[in-house]
Amino acid sequence: MEKYISIKELEEAAASVLPKAARDYYKSGATDEQTLQENKRAFQRLRIRPKCLVGLTDCNLRTTVLGNEVSMPVGISPTAMQRMAHPDGEIANAKAAEKEGVIFTLSTLATSSIEEVAKAAPRAVKWFQLYIYNDREVTRNLVLRAERAGYKAIALTVDTPVFGLRRADVHNNFSLPQHLRLSNFEGFLSTKIHSSGEGSGLNTYVNNLFDKSLTWDEVKWLRSITNLPIIAKGILRGDDAVKAVKAGCSAILVSNHGARQLDGVPASIEALPEVVEAVKHYNVEVYMDGGVSTGTDVFKALTLGAKAVFVGRPALWGLALGGQAGVERMLKIFRTELEYTFNIAGTSSVADITKDMVVHESAYSK
Ligand code: FNR
Repeated sequence: MEKYISIKELEEAAASVLPKAARDYYKSGATDEQTLQENKRAFQRLRIRPKCLVGLTDCNLRTTVLGNEVSMPVGISPTAMQRMAHPDGEIANAKAAEKEGVIFTLSTLATSSIEEVAKAAPRAVKWFQLYIYNDREVTRNLVLRAERAGYKAIALTVDTPVFGLRRADVHNNFSLPQHLRLSNFEGFLSTKIHSSGEGSGLNTYVNNLFDKSLTWDEVKWLRSITNLPIIAKGILRGDDAVKAVKAGCSAILVSNHGARQLDGVPASIEALPEVVEAVKHYNVEVYMDGGVSTGTDVFKALTLGAKAVFVGRPALWGLALGGQAGVERMLKIFRTELEYTFNIAGTSSVADITKDMVVHESAYSK
C-alpha cells in the first residue's frame, strides 16, 4: 500500500478495481454533481496564512471528540454497504480506525452488524449512524443495541427525508448484490433492498421504510430513549444547528451527505462558518465532512472552527484496494499531510490554531 501517497491516487486506483455498479454508487453525487465538485473546489478557494519562527515544539495532532481521545482530528463517516468494496467491509474499516486511533462511524445500512463490528474492534471509538424508520420499534432497537455494544454516540442523519437522485444508480438499477445483506436487520428488512425493479433499489427501500415526516420532536424522542450523545449529521444552516441543540443534540456534523442529496447546496466547508457562529454560545462541538482529501483541507476546516473532520469516500477507496491495510494507508496519508501542514503553517497542536490562519482567496484579489 506504501506506493500510494495521496488520497487522489487511492481514488484513481480504487476506480480500476471496483465493479461498475459499486464504483458508481460510491462515487456519485446528486443529479448534475455540481456540489460534488464544489465540495473540493471550495477548499481550494481558501488560503492558509502560515506563521514563521513560532518556536515549534513536537507536532501533536491529538484531540478529544465528545470527551474521547483520538490520535488526530480525522474520523470516518458512515457509508453504507461496505462489503461491496471488500469482503471484510465495515469490519476492516473499523479495525483500521482502531489501529490508527480515530473514530469509526457505522451506517444503519451496513453489511456488518453493530455487534460484529463491536467485537472486531472493541477498543475503537465507535459511533452509530441512525436513520429513523417508520417503525419506531425498529429504530429504538438499533439505538439500544448500539448502546449495549459500547458505541459512544448516535449520529442522527437529518438530511435524508428521501434519498437523493443519483443518476448512475438509476441507470444501473442499483441494488445490493444478492450474496450480501443489510446486517443490522433480520428477515425482510435485511433483504428487501434486493428486490429488483426499475431505477435505484436503494431509493425504493428508503422511500418505503424511512419516515420522511420527521420533525425536531423525534430528536427529543431519541433523546428520551438513550443516554448516548446525539450528533445531528447533515446540517447546512445556522438556524437548523440551533434547533438541533435545543432538541438535545451534543454536536453538529456539518455535511451535505457527500453531495449525494441535493445538488446546488453549499459545499460543507462553505456552510461551516455559519454553523460555528450560530452555536458559539452553546456547549456543543461542530464537525464537518464532504470533499476532504488532503491534510491542508483538514487544517482549513479546523481553522474555521471544526473540532474534527470526517471522511467517507477516502475510506472506501482504501478498503477497495487493501481492506484494513488500505484504510490504514488512507489514514496515514492524512496523518503525514496534516503533520507537514501543522509544522509549516506554524502550529504545534490543534489548540494552537488561530482563526486568522485561513482566508478566502478573494482577500488577495482586492
Ligand atoms: C454516504 N453517506 C452516508 N451518510 C449517512 O448518514 N448514512 C449512510 O448510510 C451513508 N452512506 C453513504 C454511502 C456512500 C457511498 C457515500 C459516498 C456517502 C454520507 C457520508 O456519511 C459522508 O457525509 C460523506 O461521504 C462525506 O463526503 P466525502 O468524504 O465522501 O466526500
